[in-house]
Amino acid sequence: MTDLAERRGMNTTVYQPAEDSGLLAQAAIGRVSGRVLEVGTGSGWVASQLVQKTDADVVASDLNPHACAQAAERSANLREDGHRGFDVVRGNLVDPFCDDSFDAVAFNPPYLPEDLEAARDDWMEVALTGGEDGREIIDPFLDTVGRVLKPDGEVLLLVSSLTGYDEVLARAEANGFGHDVVVQESYPYETLSVLALK
Ligand SMILES: C[S@@+](CC[C@H](N)C(=O)[O-])C[C@H]1O[C@@H](n2cnc3c(N)ncnc32)[C@H](O)[C@@H]1O
Repeated sequence: MTDLAERRGMNTTVYQPAEDSGLLAQAAIGRVSGRVLEVGTGSGWVASQLVQKTDADVVASDLNPHACAQAAERSANLREDGHRGFDVVRGNLVDPFCDDSFDAVAFNPPYLPEDLEAARDDWMEVALTGGEDGREIIDPFLDTVGRVLKPDGEVLLLVSSLTGYDEVLARAEANGFGHDVVVQESYPYETLSVLALK
């Protein structure tokens, strides 16, 4: 994510689709159905892929108001083109949603350990960095996502080797989730995996 973020992200306030977005969409297509939440939707690209390539009823959320605006515009464009579109909600992680609401929750989280020299106090930093260990957003997500999942629901979480794979798995396990690796790709600086947590 680092190189792409530098090339694409520095002058914008909304994370644009990159390899990690593509992997999350790839993992979800053919796997999710029913009511699906994409947390941290950014530009809304993953949500739009799910709307076009699955029969899921998709809701997308983000903390960043600029991301919500861009995702809502993408959804409006889909509807203009005769697709179903998706609803967009601004909020922190799964806070805005009721208990037992989703068959699946997908998240490509901010996961880079914070580089204090490069840190920027802006929305792109919010999209990229997960605090000192890279897990400051992933941990509370894992602690709370179970509440909004239906009893047989599943989480699809993108994880980077830069974030501490074992620590993420331990946190998921502590919250009662078992895991499968749905897809995994290696790049020069990191290996990205999408975990299915159930
Ligand atoms: C790596 S980007 C992924 C964007 C998009 N899903 C994609 O794959 O292209 C992470 C996104 O999570 C959002 N985010 C960060 N912290 C969040 C939080 N606490 N609650 C909801 N969204 C958050 C960021 O604003 C950003 O849009």
